[in-house]
Amino acid sequence: MDLLKGTDALWDPRWGDADDNRTSPEGRGWRKLAVSTALDFNYLSASIAFLSLIIVPALLVGLVVPIVAAYGQHSVGAAALVTRRPVVALASLTLVVALAFAFGRPLLGKAIDNFWHLHYTLVFPIFVALREMICAAAEIFPNQSMTAEGLGRLRRFGTILAAVLLAGGGLLLAASLTFSTDPALLGPRTLQFGRLAAAGLSNAGVVLGVSTALASMYWFWHEITSSHVVLNWVPAPPAIGAATPALRVAHLSDLHLVGEPYGYRMECGTAGPQGNDRIRRALRALVAIHASTPLDRVLVTGDITDAGTRAEWVEFVELLRAFPELQSRLLFVPGNHDINVVDRTNTGRLDVPWSVGGALRKLRVVHALDAVQGRCVRVVDHKTGSPGPSLHEYLRSGDRLMQLRALAERGTWRGRWEMINVWEQIFPLVALPPDDRGYGVILLDSNARRHFSLTNAIGVVGRSQLRALKAVLHSRPRRAWMVLIHHHIVEYPIRSLGLQERIGVALVNAPDVLKALARSASPVLVLHGHRHRAWIGRRGDVEVCSAPSVLFGAKGQDTSSGSFHVYDLAARGEGGLRLAASEHVSVA
Ligand SMILES: [Fe+2]
Ligand SMILES: [Fe+2]
Repeated sequence: MDLLKGTDALWDPRWGDADDNRTSPEGRGWRKLAVSTALDFNYLSASIAFLSLIIVPALLVGLVVPIVAAYGQHSVGAAALVTRRPVVALASLTLVVALAFAFGRPLLGKAIDNFWHLHYTLVFPIFVALREMICAAAEIFPNQSMTAEGLGRLRRFGTILAAVLLAGGGLLLAASLTFSTDPALLGPRTLQFGRLAAAGLSNAGVVLGVSTALASMYWFWHEITSSHVVLNWVPAPPAIGAATPALRVAHLSDLHLVGEPYGYRMECGTAGPQGNDRIRRALRALVAIHASTPLDRVLVTGDITDAGTRAEWVEFVELLRAFPELQSRLLFVPGNHDINVVDRTNTGRLDVPWSVGGALRKLRVVHALDAVQGRCVRVVDHKTGSPGPSLHEYLRSGDRLMQLRALAERGTWRGRWEMINVWEQIFPLVALPPDDRGYGVILLDSNARRHFSLTNAIGVVGRSQLRALKAVLHSRPRRAWMVLIHHHIVEYPIRSLGLQERIGVALVNAPDVLKALARSASPVLVLHGHRHRAWIGRRGDVEVCSAPSVLFGAKGQDTSSGSFHVYDLAARGEGGLRLAASEHVSVA
């Protein structure tokens, strides 16, 4: 007798239950999800996170000027004492100089880091939200004949209007607050913490208001001076007597592996595929493709797992062990589901920034990167772009391995600190071209530092990574580069996509990434996933390939089966790679 689905069984638990839909917008609906998020919200950890992620960085930004003013006043006072009490003056000046050496640069560096952190957390998302709301509203008006160029012009108007509105808002904010430079705020006899905090926050408001206005003007300038719009890719007719393609790669994305045989996913709940069988079928299909026409690379653009759990990562590595011919060609980047899902059963859960959970999710990604591609990707110097040790060597230098193991086994504080540093340093990873005529792959991490499950999908490429990306492209200008990134760098030329899709999952500094890529001497090919949409296009001479989900299929086209792409790439005369042909492979 089948104990699970016999006539007496209440129901068949293999097909899931309401618990599998707890965090699913498709299975449960957005309204219910919002209510449960509000109910599950932990207001104590929210307060701690707000303090550490917004208030403390704002205070650091706002108090730099009063600290510098107090420092200047102390220096002048010490200098004035020279003629009257030279010993005291000398001791005082020595102290001032020592303080400047010890704390001046680090304090300024911290203030600049926190300033950018606030921009990425507050200003950039507001700009993206405003721009997309204006564009979505404009796209509602019926105009059936709108071309990709027309849509590009409309979106340019939306960007310009959003930049002007945000610049106005920034200036209003700055004008409504007071900027205090009074050194008495930090005087030993006049110090009042309440007054100091209020002045620091007010100063931070002014700095952010002015910088928002400046950034908005920069976006405005960037938009009116750029002549590029996003266009659909049109395959060129094969040239007569054309040589064989330079390269053949498979592009897979968004596997959303689960750790249990009957497990469902966050996004679809019981309305989507169960377990990992479809992924297994996709890899078998890929092996068959490779056997008939060999692949040079298998590139996977993130969301390898559904929630970054240990069991899901073990599934990934075990799956690849069964397909060694694919594993040896595989390169992958992390997606938001791999590192930013705090709790797959509770969208209201919020992690404090130094939590062990966040550090472990990153550690699992690093473990898989090391196991799958550790010996063929290099860590680069962020300033010069020069390739350093392989990831495998880097992770084993000094006492790094010991610290990371301690994090894995005991969740140590030192291990968490080491993990933050490792994560900051390893991206972008680079798979170097074999020679000047070969091609290389740059692997970016585009996931924002998020600690709240509901906003896990937002993307940012941090400043240090951007600098390293520019340096790599600049240091080897003659080589051809492919860039792997999880988030999309351009919005599709498709009208009236939902705001949730356009705002909630955006790469908020995509223009900065595009600008860095455009500086490359040879045109760059960008491969991304995240949106589960199959699309190929270009902006200027940057070609962009958006992969469907191997598991969920292609949104807007076919979600009844999974799918992936296989590309033939040809060398361009002027250097770089060009997409010659694309094949869409469906997996039942
Ligand atoms: Fe995904
Ligand atoms: Fe994603």
